[in-house]
Amino acid sequence: MDPAPVVRIGIRFQEKDRGSVRPMAHLFDSLAIRDVSFANRVFVSPMCQYSSTNGYANDWHFLHLGSRAVGGAGLVLTEATAILPEGRISPQDLGIWSDDQIEPLARIVRFIHEQGSIAGIQLAHAGRKASTYRPWDGQGTIPETKGGWKNVVAPSAGAFADHYPVPQAISNEGIGALVAAFAAAARRACEAGFRVVEIHAAHGYLIHEFLSPLSNQRSDAYGGSFENRTRILREIVVAVRRSWPERAPLFMRISATDWIDGGWDIQQSIELARQVKEIGVDLIDCSSGGIVPYAKVPVGPGYQTPFAEQIRRESRIMAAAVGMITSPVQAEHILATGQADAVIIGRQFLRDPYWPLRAARELGQAMSWPVQYMRAAPEGAKARVPVDLKNLKSCFEEQHAVPER
Ligand SMILES: Cc1cc2nc3c(=O)[nH]c(=O)nc-3n(C[C@H](O)[C@H](O)[C@H](O)COP(=O)(O)O)c2cc1C
Repeated sequence: MDPAPVVRIGIRFQEKDRGSVRPMAHLFDSLAIRDVSFANRVFVSPMCQYSSTNGYANDWHFLHLGSRAVGGAGLVLTEATAILPEGRISPQDLGIWSDDQIEPLARIVRFIHEQGSIAGIQLAHAGRKASTYRPWDGQGTIPETKGGWKNVVAPSAGAFADHYPVPQAISNEGIGALVAAFAAAARRACEAGFRVVEIHAAHGYLIHEFLSPLSNQRSDAYGGSFENRTRILREIVVAVRRSWPERAPLFMRISATDWIDGGWDIQQSIELARQVKEIGVDLIDCSSGGIVPYAKVPVGPGYQTPFAEQIRRESRIMAAAVGMITSPVQAEHILATGQADAVIIGRQFLRDPYWPLRAARELGQAMSWPVQYMRAAPEGAKARVPVDLKNLKSCFEEQHAVPER
């Protein structure tokens, strides 16, 4: 068989950035955030698998996430993982609302770290999109007889669409409990050994429902002005930061725009990114849409990348690009031109779990291979080494008395 063509992209661009010059990165350059070092800048996007029973991770999650680590991703993020049972999208969502759910996740985390990849978890609450069928079983509200639940909450009592649950407007007391549930979930994530937490504030789920004027009709301290609509998110960030190790990264996924006039937009995203940077968010994962079913989204290759570029430049925070990034040259170009600090890949990773191994080869960049597969590796490739967790050990112990896993 012919060897894969090698495309060498060796130019190291430089970005003039308000006087200072930041060196541009390549796809397979490492990335350091706080005390965590990612082996490269190819991250696995959170993708619901709808395959849990009572929120527990199982063999499917082990294989699904583990194989992307074998494939060489710098970061493997779990799917949206519910912080409360009523915060699941479907009855089959993954969860982290109970201490019993830690150990099956910890097994997966250990494997990912052995592969030299960092394990991250996306913490989520589905808001008014909760208690619905998983995609291959139906659409919209799932009845209680099939595992659905009544206590669907949102900022206001409007349904996402006709066939979706009508949520109850969450009380101020409920908001306090929710913030505490995010913090408790972060503590469990720490115990499971994750090194990255990503707060899911995108795609029309609970936090995004507070951010967007299209779904937030509250007239109290959590609705109305930008300051009020973003309040719950700032409270969650502060609470999560208190229970998540100081030296471990905190990411946030946002929908940079609702794609609807009068909705949440890029200017508000830029201001939000500036604010959350000050309270401990390290990287914004820039997605879009999801708040209403009728938005017209101009989907195409790299269609959300300009949001990452703008947020990175104007909010002066690290940003990751996501959305129809499929080819190695495209991904390399995004990094080499300073549009993002990392690329996050979803469906292409479902098509090819070993995408990074192939991409490195095509780009002529160096990356390690699993030691078990060295006989198939390109000449000169190095064998994987497990993630060095030593530098985080003490901080996990200091903050939580959690022993190293
Ligand atoms: C099967 C599937 C499940 C998804 N689940 C999640 C999720 O749990 N959390 C999330 O933030 N986005 C989720 N998404 C969105 C992806 O993370 C990603 O943002 C989107 O697919 C666009 O990237 P892509 O073009 O590389 O697939 C999901 C996408 C797919 C295809």
